[in-house]
Amino acid sequence: MLRLNTTNAFEFFKEEYVEEHANTAVGALIHILEEKPGFIRILGDRKLLESVRSHEEWLRCFDTMVVVGIGGSGLGNIAIRESLRPFNWNRLNRNMREGWLKLYVLDNVDPEGIAAVLDEIDFKSTLFNVISKSGGTTETIANYLVVRGMLETYGLDPREHLIFTTDPEMGLLRSIAHSEGIRALEIPPDVGGRFSVLTAVGMLTALALGLNPEAFHEGGLSMLETCSFHDWKKNPAIQIALSHYLHYLEGRNISVMMAYSSRLLSLVDWYRQLWAESLGKRHARDGEEVRVGQTPVKALGVLDQHSQLQLYNEGPDDKVVTFLRLKRFSREIRIPHVHEEIESIDYLKSHKLSTLLNTELLGTLVSLVENHRPVLLLDFDELDERHLGMFFVLYELATALTGELLNINAYDQPGVERGKQVTKALMGKDRMEEERKRIKSKLEKYGLWEDTL
Ligand code: PA5
Repeated sequence: MLRLNTTNAFEFFKEEYVEEHANTAVGALIHILEEKPGFIRILGDRKLLESVRSHEEWLRCFDTMVVVGIGGSGLGNIAIRESLRPFNWNRLNRNMREGWLKLYVLDNVDPEGIAAVLDEIDFKSTLFNVISKSGGTTETIANYLVVRGMLETYGLDPREHLIFTTDPEMGLLRSIAHSEGIRALEIPPDVGGRFSVLTAVGMLTALALGLNPEAFHEGGLSMLETCSFHDWKKNPAIQIALSHYLHYLEGRNISVMMAYSSRLLSLVDWYRQLWAESLGKRHARDGEEVRVGQTPVKALGVLDQHSQLQLYNEGPDDKVVTFLRLKRFSREIRIPHVHEEIESIDYLKSHKLSTLLNTELLGTLVSLVENHRPVLLLDFDELDERHLGMFFVLYELATALTGELLNINAYDQPGVERGKQVTKALMGKDRMEEERKRIKSKLEKYGLWEDTL
């Protein structure tokens, strides 16, 4: 089970005030459920799951899968690997992985990061899964070209080492797939990038890692059912959206998600993109300039107790903190009886490290509550495909609902377009010479123009 505790977060407000906004939130949720956005429609979609499963035998011919994709096409894959497989997964031999694949994700275009992965893998036994909904994202295409060049260097057939995950009809990847007969999976057009982890985008990765895609969907469907309750006190999506929205109205424009488990930390990266890109918007639906959004911040317990917590407790009262707690760890380490002669460390003896970790979570939570900082707590009974499916759907729904409360479109991202255009013009894209000149004069003004550009 996933269990959410929001008692403290709502204590800040009068009951009638919360009820009034809760009614609006229930109405907005009903609207979302009726509209059935793509990320809900695909839950339990047999065709989608079968199309992923149809590659199972082929996948098992490889030792490694490298995902090439960024943003919504990369983060869910990282989250699945890091939260459901051990950190040393890629260093385990094939037997220990029970024949399942090592998994790397090439997202950034940092040459040192890319080179480190390319140096490590054996191309002959590697499958490259190039994921891009649009089929044309600069970073993904650049990394694809690098990989493709290497396949050519090694004389390997691209049709045997590449699969594309992309729009069913549109975009560059789809047209290459058509013309060259490269295998391809579909990202449904009505599912936005950051909402796409439960499509083939994340499910082929799940399968490659020996996980069960169907179980992710079962988890997602059960969360959808829980989040369909009209009683907001029983509905975790409404509780997350409403508590964040009400605190945002009070000026708490930062949403910290603090995971007390290294395996849960990659979920925070996934959440960070979802919350930021969906809710940080300049215009309301009616065109009015509103400039809304809550900045998501990633934190790790216990490390950030020794880094960020001072600020959270005594700095500006501008944060809502959500704790992620794992109840059952897959490995345990008990603190041994050594140094019996030192009394000051007696209290640690024979406790499990997980007990210390989760006790420190409570210590941090109490300190925040005593400083009148709103907190929420999300408990994972354990970490498996079902729980991850639940988590993804819970936050997708909560994000969509917060978008409704803020009256903005949670599914677009106009604010990232300009940076992309500038990059293309500077990199010498055809028919962008005039734009390049305009950008050059801007950069010169700041002393940033370089002749190598
Ligand atoms: O959520 C989004 O739409 C974006 O973050 C995209 O996932 C990201 O820009 C990558 O896009 P694409 O999958 O088209 O390559």
